[in-house]
Amino acid sequence: MSLPNGFLDELRSRICLSDVVGRKVQWDLRKSNQARGDMWAPCPFHQEKTASFHVDDNKGFYYCFGCQAKGDAIGFIKETENVNFIEAVEILASEVGLQMPEFDPKSKEKADRNKILLEIMEQSVNFFRLTLNSNQGKHALEYLKKRGICSDAIERFEIGFAPADQTILTQKLIDKGYDLEAIIETGMSVKSDESNRLYDRFRGRVMFPIRDSRGRCIAFGGRSLDPAARAKYLNSPETPLFDKGSNLYNLVSARSAVGRGEPLIVTEGYMDVIALDSGNFNGAIAPLGTAITEKQLQLMWRISPEPIIALDGDKAGLRAAYRLIDLSLPLLRTGKALRFSIMPEGKDPDDLIRNDGASVFKNLIDEAVPMVDLIWRRETESKSFDSPERRAGLDKSLADAIALIKEKNLKNHYRDALFQARRQFFGRQNTGKTEFKSNSRLMPQSDTKSSFLVAADEKTVSAQIRESTIIAVLMNFPELIEIFYDELVMIDLASPDCDLILKELVKIDKGTKTEIKNKLMEKIGGEKVEKLLSLSHLRVLPCLRVKGTIEMGQQTLREELAKLNSERGLSVEVDEINNTPPEEWHERDFSRLEMANNAKQRTVSSVQEDTINYEQAQNGLNINREERLKLDEIRKTISFGKKKS
Ligand code: UTP
Ligand code: MN
Repeated sequence: MSLPNGFLDELRSRICLSDVVGRKVQWDLRKSNQARGDMWAPCPFHQEKTASFHVDDNKGFYYCFGCQAKGDAIGFIKETENVNFIEAVEILASEVGLQMPEFDPKSKEKADRNKILLEIMEQSVNFFRLTLNSNQGKHALEYLKKRGICSDAIERFEIGFAPADQTILTQKLIDKGYDLEAIIETGMSVKSDESNRLYDRFRGRVMFPIRDSRGRCIAFGGRSLDPAARAKYLNSPETPLFDKGSNLYNLVSARSAVGRGEPLIVTEGYMDVIALDSGNFNGAIAPLGTAITEKQLQLMWRISPEPIIALDGDKAGLRAAYRLIDLSLPLLRTGKALRFSIMPEGKDPDDLIRNDGASVFKNLIDEAVPMVDLIWRRETESKSFDSPERRAGLDKSLADAIALIKEKNLKNHYRDALFQARRQFFGRQNTGKTEFKSNSRLMPQSDTKSSFLVAADEKTVSAQIRESTIIAVLMNFPELIEIFYDELVMIDLASPDCDLILKELVKIDKGTKTEIKNKLMEKIGGEKVEKLLSLSHLRVLPCLRVKGTIEMGQQTLREELAKLNSERGLSVEVDEINNTPPEEWHERDFSRLEMANNAKQRTVSSVQEDTINYEQAQNGLNINREERLKLDEIRKTISFGKKKS
């Protein structure tokens, strides 16, 4: 869809950007210079007290030095009114008295059509409201009063009632001259399959009009008064006016409340929003009968940098929150966060405010936790970490979550926070090493003990060959630290020296190989580093030889990390799902199962290569004998400070 040449220029020349912006911000008049068209205000796109939002009237552009929001008048309307480009142009054109060109007959047709649909919706709002206050609505009005909704809230939310009669609204609309097709298109009437007759979609329900960001009624939610009704709530279907995933209940009022400094509180239902509003939390919104979508999240972030998700205190509420975490992790930015407030068991915000009072709810909102806390809870709650495999599984799931975050700086802070939580947690719960000791009393008694220890030792040796390989490759190709950062930062190595070096390596800023080595030596002493690097198996590692390339290093690292992981029990994820009844599976499990599966697949194939070589070696078949001997040699020479029995 294109506008005729010159139209936008004409529009821009008539618009004064600071007039357009001025309706949404409070100018900082001391900082601004009105005469020069140089205006400053606290930014409408992120919360701040200082004025970092700059409008240049001459250029017709705005820019925020705090959140980098920028654009022209059309962009500003798009952002603040949640409309598309053409709609923004329409709004501005009508403001400056510029006739919109009839550029596209189809879109004009569509706009005219929508106008009629919107009229039908407003007629319906009026009809339902009148009915609520009539004899027919007595019962419904009583119900609302019983639920603590006062007349004032009924007015503000334009609550109405759809009578049980089959066709009354449809008939009214026809009488007003609207054509049948249009009435059906709004979703207010439905054509019955058998008789071809029209009847009202909403019957015997308390009606909640749903308005879009421009305040136009685009849909309804209807609550049945009959506890035995098939659907407690019935919502309008998707129509040309209503896209349920990109609208929010009570958006307009909540937006202005947030503008006055109230928190944006996201609840699950219409009744919660209304109860909160009555309890003087005017910044409440709700999705429209579905889980929160990405579009809705973006809408919320336009209003507030940190909406508070108020969850119903039941399993479903928590599950919804966990789904929301997965949805929002890749979208998080500095200034686009979420907080979570969990209601007491079995209560929704409406129940809580009504039974326990607004101050109890206020406390819960004040104590809302940041998303990172909920991630930790999700990954640890009612799980046991009494084995290295399980702890490795936890590391992996935390790393997976962190890896979803796109913004670098934020990613680092999440990593720090989760890493610290994990340290504290295992500090209390005993670390891997002490746990082993405490478990040792479960070990077989003396006669079988020695063979058991040998087996354990063999395992340790192979793990430690891997671990020292990982360290040496990283030291040789420091660029790889960055590439594998997400994974490296979450693993604990079994060898204390390797672990110490790894923890230092991920902390060191970029640098050349020598710089990094020097820094390491300085931090943990040259002896440890040299000892590790002089391990003989490293001398035969192709990627560390003169002709070794970073690609080879990367390949080695990837394999070693995968093997290490699989040795430490990547199967945790699969086990967990196998132990979960199917009805409790949800999207997250499948994505994680898939990830675990892929990783396992990857490992299995490379580990198979290993065993093939190894078996051949043991059978003395066509294996490179030299290599075999070298490996045996290495096993003998490496001492990890454990005495063999
Ligand atoms: P709830 O069942 O939590 O509703 O559903 P509620 O707000 O607590 O309702 P009351 O207090 O019993 O009146 C939350 C939201 O899920 C959607 C609605 O949007 C509702 O507000 N929903 C629920 C449906 O779309 N259909 C249903 O059958 C139930
Ligand atoms: Mn409820």
